[in-house]
Amino acid sequence: QKNFAQRRDLTGKKILVTAGGTQEPIDPVRYVGNRSSGKMGFAVAAAAALRGAEVVLIHANTHLPIPTGVTAVAVSTADEMLRAVLDYCSHSDVVIKAAAVADYKPARQADSKMKKEINNLALTLVPTTDILAELGKRKGKQILVGFAAETDDLLANAKKKIQRKNLDLIVANDVSRTDIGFATNENQVTFLYADGRQETLAKMNKNLVAQEIMDRVIDIIAARYP
Ligand code: CTP
Ligand code: CA
Repeated sequence: QKNFAQRRDLTGKKILVTAGGTQEPIDPVRYVGNRSSGKMGFAVAAAAALRGAEVVLIHANTHLPIPTGVTAVAVSTADEMLRAVLDYCSHSDVVIKAAAVADYKPARQADSKMKKEINNLALTLVPTTDILAELGKRKGKQILVGFAAETDDLLANAKKKIQRKNLDLIVANDVSRTDIGFATNENQVTFLYADGRQETLAKMNKNLVAQEIMDRVIDIIAARYP
């Protein structure tokens, strides 16, 4: 059994983690959302803090306790998450984006509760900013880790995201499986690297997946700052 907490191997590193799922308001009482619980991102933040990193956790619509030693920033929408990430990212050595960010938001938000007066209601959605792609455009020595949530062609789709967002590592998981992923305590992931390497892990508790992610981040840091 590895004892990660004894290894303070992230001391002095600043790590930004995002978690949860954004909600995009339709009117004052309704939103467009997704099924992310935030468990994976919270596990990553806790693992990084246990190993000595200075951690900022930007979380959207979660109901989980803030891990010890972590600075938490609560947001709700994709736009709020973008602003918070841009505020904190320049101070971060590593950014790990576990959050499920809405890809679209309602074009308009009604000021008062919409009434059920009509038979068919069409909601016009417009794209949000891809936060990770923005970070990818401006990254220098920073290490960028993304997640890929897929129901089909997991590895092929995840590979495209590494290139498109200029990532160092992507953590790919199959969200069509009900035994892992959303709201569960387990995950089964494949790590894909910018240089094409890939590594599939066994199914395990999200806290252990988080420790495995931090191990890979440490390897990338070691390679970048020899
Ligand atoms: N992401 C982000 N900003 C967005 C959408 C996604 O930062 N507006 C990040 C997520 O936090 C995740 C990664 O991009 O780390 C991949 O998210 P995912 O939804 O799997 O991929 P998308 O690029 O949004 O593509 P699609 O949903 O079409 O598969
Ligand atoms: Ca998406």
